[in-house]
Amino acid sequence: MRAAVVTSFGGPEAVEVVDVEVPEPGARQVRIKVAAAALNPVDAGVREGVFGGAGKQIGLGWDVAGTVDATGVATAWSVGDEVVALDYGMVKPLGTHAEYVVVDTDAVATAPATADAVHAATLPLNALTAMQALDLLDPAPGGSLLVTGAAGAVGGFAVQLAAHRGIAVTALAREDDEELVRSLGAARFIAGDVESGGFDAVLDAAVLGERALARVRDGGAYVGVIPQAQPAAERGVRTGAVEVSADGARLAELVRLVDAGVLTLRVAETYALQEAAKAHARLGEGGVRGRLVLVP
Ligand SMILES: NC(=O)c1ccc[n+]([C@@H]2O[C@H](COP(=O)([O-])OP(=O)(O)OC[C@H]3O[C@@H](n4cnc5c(N)ncnc54)[C@H](OP(=O)(O)O)[C@@H]3O)[C@@H](O)[C@H]2O)c1
Repeated sequence: MRAAVVTSFGGPEAVEVVDVEVPEPGARQVRIKVAAAALNPVDAGVREGVFGGAGKQIGLGWDVAGTVDATGVATAWSVGDEVVALDYGMVKPLGTHAEYVVVDTDAVATAPATADAVHAATLPLNALTAMQALDLLDPAPGGSLLVTGAAGAVGGFAVQLAAHRGIAVTALAREDDEELVRSLGAARFIAGDVESGGFDAVLDAAVLGERALARVRDGGAYVGVIPQAQPAAERGVRTGAVEVSADGARLAELVRLVDAGVLTLRVAETYALQEAAKAHARLGEGGVRGRLVLVP
């Protein structure tokens, strides 16, 4: 099968599409025939060597939508099931940017009934991250929440999930994104930097760090998205960072929210797997709204 990998770190040109053996599922694993796999910022980080692994073949891709085509022992899934999954892992020999991927059964959920595979592939990583970040923040209904990077993948899902829970969300995004973030359920919009406001909670998906932390009221809560780059706590603010976990049960909850019309799946462009390097180059240009999705 074909798979997108890096064997030496670098820019988009470091991405190679190689022929490799089709992987076999072990116990409590399934093999998914990939229909679509989103490209995320973490894939660019892996490609650049941010997470190490020099000298190895590293597979790219965390998000997948497709069909179960083989199962190991002790799995509840059957061949033919349409699924989505998060294939967590910075340094692994193969990822979801491939024709087949093997994942743990507890990272898998039934695919949304209301979305095609290209859209479904945009759900796992970023919706799970948004949900788990909100779990950490635990904002009270009626409380105030600032989401930075609200037009992005994590931020957009966070706005929708929080608004659905009855939380008044202020969205910080680029000037041109007001209509988009309001359509996701933001009650208030801030363009550019955060100049004022003492929010009960801040989810910093734009990685503004101390500038976002400064907008939390004394004793409030801040959650970032880069565990290694957390601002130091101050003024009694509870600080933390989300580290996504591949939780199939939570993913199933998110699928239900997609099918209920609560979560929007946003696709910017699709690329053939063979064009993975081109998709990386597009991601690197910035300003993408919705996800770039690879199709084998
Ligand atoms: N810890 C975890 O488990 C985990 C999981 C998933 C993602 N992440 C991380 O979370 C971050 C967000 O991921 P993502 O996929 O949501 O990225 P994304 O889709 O690129 O979204 C980031 C958004 O923030 C915007 N932004 C950046 N700086 C801004 C500023 N100063 N003012 C207003 N908007 C600004 C970007 O706009 P432009 O495109 O115009 O720059 C973009 O809309 C990434 O760093 C990713 O690696 C962490």
